[in-house]
Amino acid sequence: MLIAQITDVHIGFDRENPDELNMQRLRAVIARLAQGPNRPDLLLMTGDLTEAGDADSYARLAEAVRGCPFPIHAMVGNHDDRGVLVAAFPETPLDGGFVHYAIAGKGLRLIVLDTLEPGRHGGAFCDARVAWLHDQLSRDRETPTVIAMHHPPIESGITWLDSAASEPWIARFAGAVSGFTQVRGIIAGHLHRTIHTQWNGLSLSVCPSTAPAVALDLSPIDEDRPDDRELITDELPGYALHRWDGQSLMTHFEAVGRHVALARFDRGLQPMIKGMMAERREG
Ligand SMILES: [Fe+2]
Ligand SMILES: [Fe+2]
Repeated sequence: MLIAQITDVHIGFDRENPDELNMQRLRAVIARLAQGPNRPDLLLMTGDLTEAGDADSYARLAEAVRGCPFPIHAMVGNHDDRGVLVAAFPETPLDGGFVHYAIAGKGLRLIVLDTLEPGRHGGAFCDARVAWLHDQLSRDRETPTVIAMHHPPIESGITWLDSAASEPWIARFAGAVSGFTQVRGIIAGHLHRTIHTQWNGLSLSVCPSTAPAVALDLSPIDEDRPDDRELITDELPGYALHRWDGQSLMTHFEAVGRHVALARFDRGLQPMIKGMMAERREG
C-alpha cells in the first residue's frame, strides 16, 4: 500500500493571483503523483492547505486536485478553517467540532488528528481530542496504526517554529497514545522541511512542504535582534510516499522539479541489473 502525503500547501498566500507560486508548486507535485511510476492508493493532505482559511483558496485547491486518480483526505493545520475546509471537501468528517477520523487501509489503520486551535500558530490537543484518540486506539488494538497530525510534538531545532517539548498539549497527546503498541509511527507537517526522528519510541517523519521551505538554520535565534537570517527559501516542493508492506512502514521523500535521467534500464545496463537481482535471490 502506498500512501502519498503532501503538506503545507498554503494556497492563497498571493490571494489575487490564481496562478500564484504556491499553486504552481502544488500542480507540479500533483502531476508527479498522478503521472509518475508510483501511483498512490490515497493522498493525505496534512494541513495548512490554505494561507488564510478562505473559501476561494479552498475552491482553488479542490479544483487543482479534482482530477487525481486516487482518493484524497484533507486535514487541518493552524492556517486552516475547519468549517470552510469541510465545505470545500465535503467528504471530510467534522466530528464534535474537530476534523479527526480514521482511514482503513490495506492492513494498516491511519488515524488523522486535529491539532488546530484558532488564533494559535502552534499545536493543540485538548481533553476532548484526547478522549477521542483514546477511544479510537482502544477500539482496535491489533491493526498496525499510523497517526497523522499537522503539528509534530517535537523540537526540531528551528526554535521559532517549534513547539516546546514542555507544552501541555504534547503531554496530553503523549498520554493518549501511551501503552498502545499497535501505533507504529507518526507522520506530520508544519515545519516545511524533511525531518526524521524518534518520539517516545515511535518513528516520526515530517513531510516537506509544497509551499516554499523553511530555511535550515539551527543556530539560536534572538527574537529581539533581527539578524537577517534566511527564514523562507525557494527549495523545491516535495512530498512523502509511505510504503506499507504489511510489516513495516518505509517512508520515501522526493523533491519535485526538473530532473534528467542519467541512466536507464536498457540493454547496456541489463547485465548489471541481472547481477544485482541474482545476488538477492542467492543471498
Ligand atoms: Fe505551514
Ligand atoms: Fe502549520
